Amino acid sequence: MRSVVYSRTGDPSVLRLVDRDVTEPGPGEARVRVAVSGVNPTDWKSRLGSGDGAATPFPEVTPNQDGAGVIDAVGERVENLSVGDRVWVYLAGHQRPTGTAQEYTNLPAGRVVRLPGSASFDIGASLGVPAMTAHRALTVSEDGPKRLHPGALTGKVVLVAGGAGAVGHAAIQLARWAGATVLTTISGPAKAALATAAGAHHVINYRDEDAANAIKNVAPDGVDLVVEVAISANSQLNIDVVKPRASIAIYANDGGSEFKLDVRQNMIKNLRYQFVLLYTVGDAALTAAVEDITLALGDGALPVGENAGLPLHRFPLANTAQAHQAVQDGAVGKVLIDVS
Ligand SMILES: NC(=O)c1ccc[n+]([C@@H]2O[C@H](COP(=O)([O-])OP(=O)(O)OC[C@H]3O[C@@H](n4cnc5c(N)ncnc54)[C@H](OP(=O)(O)O)[C@@H]3O)[C@@H](O)[C@H]2O)c1
Repeated sequence: MRSVVYSRTGDPSVLRLVDRDVTEPGPGEARVRVAVSGVNPTDWKSRLGSGDGAATPFPEVTPNQDGAGVIDAVGERVENLSVGDRVWVYLAGHQRPTGTAQEYTNLPAGRVVRLPGSASFDIGASLGVPAMTAHRALTVSEDGPKRLHPGALTGKVVLVAGGAGAVGHAAIQLARWAGATVLTTISGPAKAALATAAGAHHVINYRDEDAANAIKNVAPDGVDLVVEVAISANSQLNIDVVKPRASIAIYANDGGSEFKLDVRQNMIKNLRYQFVLLYTVGDAALTAAVEDITLALGDGALPVGENAGLPLHRFPLANTAQAHQAVQDGAVGKVLIDVS
């Protein structure tokens, strides 16, 4: 099979296209013939490491956590998946060398999820990191909901920072599907159009207008939950617009890795900060995300493509390095690799 691997961290040139044997899935594993591999910032950040050419944790690592394809073999003790099932996968390369930038990959069966018939491989390959992160961010409030389904967020106001980003897009879609009033901040008109296409009710250009005033105008009673990508830039904005006992879910450090908290301002509003990292979120949250995302998929609530607010950028497997560079350069939308 054709496989992309790297053995030292570094810039995209460390990625090599090689031929490798297809291996049998072990007990509890499924082998997936990968159709589409999805690229996320975490994939290039792992590949880059600290930039000093350090050895990888395995002799060869295949990049990319997300993907979609068809089950081609199952190991012993796999009961809920069958050969021929169309699936999406998540955390494919977490503490394993088995990412999705290769024609076949063996994964623990628990990280392989059936795709409902109507959902494309493009959708499947766009779910893992973005949709599961968004699910966690939307389910950490003290008053709930702990699970998402139509009506779960009815009556709640959700503010998604950066609604044209991949996670932001998934957060808008899931929040809208669950019944929230969805506000989002973006940096320009093209991203405003994308966030609107994704389903946001109100789009605020944080560069051109007074974002706090604009948010208060459309949500005078305040925001219940913030899905935050850039807390160092938005910390004060969030405090200004949330209602008492709101939650702020922080999943990234875009634009700065530190921020200050004014005790009194936060105390007065009884605010709650929840940090989110998919790798350490725990099995219960991962299972909840898989189940709720499957429900949303069945409802057709998670489309991708420009018309759905997430333009697709496609690369062949041989150009995985360019695909990584595109994500690293801030491609707007979703970078996908056609594998087979
Ligand atoms: N914790 C986790 O488990 C987890 C999971 C997924 C992703 N992440 C991290 O989350 C970040 C985003 O990932 P992604 O795949 O969604 O990337 P992306 O598609 O590049 O989106 C990032 C978005 O953030 C927006 N943004 C940046 N600064 C902003 C600000 N001050 N206010 C509002 N929006 C702002 C950007 O747009 P503008 O600059 O135009 O505003 C962009 O649309 C990355 O750092 C990634 O590593 C973490």
